[in-house]
Amino acid sequence: MRIGVLTSGGDSPGMNAAIRSVVKASIARGHAVVGIRNGYEGLLAADMVELQLNDVDGISRFGGTMLGSARSLYFPTPEGQADARRRVKEAGLDGLVVIGGNGSLAGAHALSDGRPCQVVGLPASIDNDIGHSRLCIGVDTAVNTIVEACDRISDTARAHRRAFVVEVMGRHSGYLAMRAGIAADADAILYAEEGLDEETLVQRLRKLLQQSFSDARDKKRVLIVKAEGVTVPTARIVERLAKFLETDAPGVGIRETILGHVVRGGSPSAMDRLIAQRLALGAVLGLEAGVHDAMLAWEPSEGVGAATRDPSVAIVPLAEVLAETQRMLDGTSASTKARVALLQAYGSLLAL
Ligand code: F6P
Repeated sequence: MRIGVLTSGGDSPGMNAAIRSVVKASIARGHAVVGIRNGYEGLLAADMVELQLNDVDGISRFGGTMLGSARSLYFPTPEGQADARRRVKEAGLDGLVVIGGNGSLAGAHALSDGRPCQVVGLPASIDNDIGHSRLCIGVDTAVNTIVEACDRISDTARAHRRAFVVEVMGRHSGYLAMRAGIAADADAILYAEEGLDEETLVQRLRKLLQQSFSDARDKKRVLIVKAEGVTVPTARIVERLAKFLETDAPGVGIRETILGHVVRGGSPSAMDRLIAQRLALGAVLGLEAGVHDAMLAWEPSEGVGAATRDPSVAIVPLAEVLAETQRMLDGTSASTKARVALLQAYGSLLAL
């Protein structure tokens, strides 16, 4: 087979490991691999290069993506997709592996229509917002990065007896804040899925600060981890809490840190490299077996998707992945409800 591979949308640590595994598995099994630069933009521009083993040797340890990535505005249009199908045929591709997040996988599903070649997707997004994959490529590294940053912030917070609000990425998903917040000993975790209005949120945090910095409790630092998806601006929360602190706990300060794209870079964790490589091997084996318009998922719920030789990897039709992703976005997904329930159950421990 002639197998194309591209990375698309926001990059995530582990994308290089996935590319490497696609190349190695393909070459080992007698296929040719074509790397497509800059996501669907590169497909439309026929910006492609045949990849050899040495091109990918040792790249798993690097963040970002060696192929480059982009969020194409033209590709999602009907004309863009017709052009992309034409490009796939011109390039003589039998299979295409799309590594990316929600938008990229929606693109893969649209491109599958008419079967210009077999199309399979791999879930890669630090936000962990892709349906039916317990973890996406990049999440574990992002969580570790946040925890490390929060630990550093906690050191300086403790030295000055301060509160910090640390904002982390996650446009439509509070998963990073939830998972990293627990691991970093946060005193509160703010995520949009809880649906709090500004007043309730600020009053809840005021109470937390009052208790934490009271003479009885005498805490030295308070760490509040906030997901980007909470629409109240971090600066406004901090400003309002600073006013309350003037009377509630004179002398105690509060600061904000927005981690932003720091969270998306860096050397992928062993876990992300492992997930990426196993999903990518599944993609190549799947293409050989005729799989089309599907995603390789990491540990989906029992009964979801077709089994592969790898007990943690399953093949789920892209239509099902996208439908579940939509349910995660609107809060009706069982997995989102379980995340929120866990956080609420854990919530009483956070502020102790
Ligand atoms: O890839 C997902 C994500 O990192 C979100 O968490 C974040 O909101 C967004 O991408 C940022 O996108 P950009 O890199 O285009 O600013």
